[in-house]
Amino acid sequence: MVEHATAKGRVQRFWNEAACGENLYLFSVDREGYSRQAADRYALEPFIEPFADFRSASGKKVLEIGVGLGADHQRFAEAGAELYGIDLTERAVAHARRRLSMFGLRSRLAVGDAESLSFPDGAFALVYSWGVIHHTPDTPRAAAEILRVLEPGGTFKVMIYQRRSLVGLMLWVRYALLRLRPFTTMDAIYAAHLESPGTKAYSVREAAALFAGAADVRITTVLTHGDLLASGAGQRHRGLALTVARRVFPRALVRKLLPGWGLFMLISGRKPAAPSITGEPSRQTIGRQTTARGPALAAANDHGVA
Ligand SMILES: C[S@@+](CC[C@H](N)C(=O)[O-])C[C@H]1O[C@@H](n2cnc3c(N)ncnc32)[C@H](O)[C@@H]1O
Repeated sequence: MVEHATAKGRVQRFWNEAACGENLYLFSVDREGYSRQAADRYALEPFIEPFADFRSASGKKVLEIGVGLGADHQRFAEAGAELYGIDLTERAVAHARRRLSMFGLRSRLAVGDAESLSFPDGAFALVYSWGVIHHTPDTPRAAAEILRVLEPGGTFKVMIYQRRSLVGLMLWVRYALLRLRPFTTMDAIYAAHLESPGTKAYSVREAAALFAGAADVRITTVLTHGDLLASGAGQRHRGLALTVARRVFPRALVRKLLPGWGLFMLISGRKPAAPSITGEPSRQTIGRQTTARGPALAAANDHGVA
């Protein structure tokens, strides 16, 4: 229990020092700064908009968990959602509040914890969370909370990290192999070297298990700018090796040969409309998408139904 609280405190401290992308993409805390940050975000991660489908949230009661700088939150507000947002840190909530007020938009924002949401059962039609619940110590609990606060038939859209990723592999080469510690596990590498302390990553099957109680679960993996060394991300690992790797990285080949090795796992599904009385397993679709930039690369490649 104490250990859990300490782990949560470390996550909170990390994101309170700088919200996600703040140091790299937010040049000024005004309308122009936030607009530029959003433009960079959606250029680098073009798969966010089709996945989130912000416009479809119009008129719906929506909760975003882990708002960060608030770019996606702004999109939901602009789409006319009845919007709620939480984040573990004051800093993120302050950014999102400031951002929305600068654009004349409304949301009920508060500091909150994904693992114990302060909303009643069945409160939302959509719960959205991008790159958040793999940071919290008890991710299964956060997934259960998402399903709890959804209304029957409501939709969730969540991104978490995939363990078998090029980002993970490159971190492993750098912090395990090159330090002559080849027995270091991928989980230890993610926990120590990817964003906040204790970050986790999952296999597609483990991700499906997190949402085992849901219906119509669809999981798509995506090659990101991080996997392709195609952006300034990863500053904390900078050095000669990273500079050289960025120059010589065989992006076209990687896209062709390793399309399923993306860091991001996009998971969507529904809370069942009523408890299943047949005990039938829910339908799950597993796919992958080979993209870092541009619509030509963003063709989804669904290849199985489990
Ligand atoms: C990588 S950032 C993502 C932020 C935003 N969704 C984005 O895509 O830019 C992770 C965010 O999750 C938040 N977070 C981590 N654990 C959380 C928890 N238990 N409850 C709520 N938010 C949490 C952090 O404070 C941070 O703002």
